[in-house]
Amino acid sequence: MPVLTGRHLRICLLLLGLFLLADYAISPTRKRSSLRGFFASHSSPSTNGPHYGSEIRPLRIEWGDDPIPETQVLFHKIPGWTVFRNLYASSDTIYIVTSHPERIPPKRLMISNGLILALQEENEPTNKTMSIISPNEAKTLFGTSAGFLDGLTFMQTDSPQFIGHMYHFLVEIFALGHWRTYTSPDLDPIFGSLRAFPRRFIVPRATQQEWQDRAGMNQWVMRAGLGSLSFEYKDDWDHRMSLQRPFLLETVILGDRAAWHRGPSLKSPTTEFPMAVKDMWWEPIRQSVVAFALPPGQKSRTSRSKPVITYISRQKTGRRLRDADHDALVLELYRLGRDHGYEVNIPMMEDLDKSSQVTLLGRTTILVGVHGNGLSGQLWLKPSPRTTVIELFIDKGFTYDYEYTARSLGLKHYGFWNDHYFTAPDLPPINYPQGFHDRHITCNASAIAAFIHRRLTLDDPSQA
Ligand SMILES: *[C@@H]1O[C@H](CO)[C@@H](O)[C@H](O)[C@H]1NC(C)=O
Ligand SMILES: *[C@@H]1O[C@H](CO)[C@@H](O)[C@H](O)[C@H]1NC(C)=O
Repeated sequence: MPVLTGRHLRICLLLLGLFLLADYAISPTRKRSSLRGFFASHSSPSTNGPHYGSEIRPLRIEWGDDPIPETQVLFHKIPGWTVFRNLYASSDTIYIVTSHPERIPPKRLMISNGLILALQEENEPTNKTMSIISPNEAKTLFGTSAGFLDGLTFMQTDSPQFIGHMYHFLVEIFALGHWRTYTSPDLDPIFGSLRAFPRRFIVPRATQQEWQDRAGMNQWVMRAGLGSLSFEYKDDWDHRMSLQRPFLLETVILGDRAAWHRGPSLKSPTTEFPMAVKDMWWEPIRQSVVAFALPPGQKSRTSRSKPVITYISRQKTGRRLRDADHDALVLELYRLGRDHGYEVNIPMMEDLDKSSQVTLLGRTTILVGVHGNGLSGQLWLKPSPRTTVIELFIDKGFTYDYEYTARSLGLKHYGFWNDHYFTAPDLPPINYPQGFHDRHITCNASAIAAFIHRRLTLDDPSQA
């Protein structure tokens, strides 16, 4: 008969201690999200696919002599943006298996051949890119089983043209595209109101190098915001496809920019995102990234009473203010800070490391910058009625990129032409006058400073 010795007891106590510690370590992070209760803490999506009959999810899907799981298009209201259940991939072709091909949207509105946008004709998808086949054809082609990629996959089948650019990837594709779709209440009937985390992001037509933007922000943010999301690049995908075996992807949000361009532009004041949008849909990622940016052991500086003005200087880059106007703006902003006790920061973002950039933006109330990638930093601004993005354009110049971003994130955006400003819904038409991308953009520093002060002191900032 075993005897409980002191050594056994110590081991038991040690195990108990570890167990309690692990539980303690896990629970605070579960509680941090502002969308508490929205995310499942582990993957348990309900599927109407095959029944697994086991507590461990299968690594393969076997249909044997039973019907093969058919592909469903769960959502497709705009070109280039489709949500699937049971999508197949094999030997470089995406397969839609269906007994109802008439219910499937045109392929050209879902996918392209992943070439640059200018090659419109060459980008029309062929049967090699995507094939719609019957269940019988599928059984002949695939046999009785497939490798299984469980849970949710984000897939973006673009060429590297846009994917390696911080604004186009991080803001347009990831935030405004995949993440906004993933959190949409329209998908509650499919995913349940308790979401399992997405499992992977596949960019089948861009290598890791091609996906990395110059500043390295794309990968930094992905690790910071979504540590559990793994990436699969062109080489990985090509390898998968070279195996001559089918894979079944359980749920896929498929984005394709060339297909997207076959429809109307989303970036206008009149077209809305075609799905219901969850309140604060970006907030979990924003909080996760801002918290990650804080060096270990350092507490976040919150100054509730003191608004923070950040003017992103782009004076080392091509598109920028006339030097005299930049100098005047710096002077006026510092004066504003002195007179009213605002904190004023005028960083060259390229001189700051990523953590410092995100930490500063996470504390910023008013973000000022010339039209350009620097304004992608608005992703980290904390939404509040006063939080404002001020975008400086050359006189009569305008394009929607950062305005649309702000509007989607629930931030107030003002465009400025010298002392004239505008905001949605009264926006000028898209216009790139001569000098739009130049280094002689003008601004009226005192008008901007007066405007900022007004935004920060108005009783009701929504009335500005
Ligand atoms: C592509 O596949 C469809 C459906 O199977 C077929 O009708 C069509 O002829 C094919 N196109 C080409 C060019 O082979
Ligand atoms: C700046 O704007 C103010 C207010 O509209 C105007 O009075 C002033 O003349 C402008 N300054 C310059 C240099 O254009």
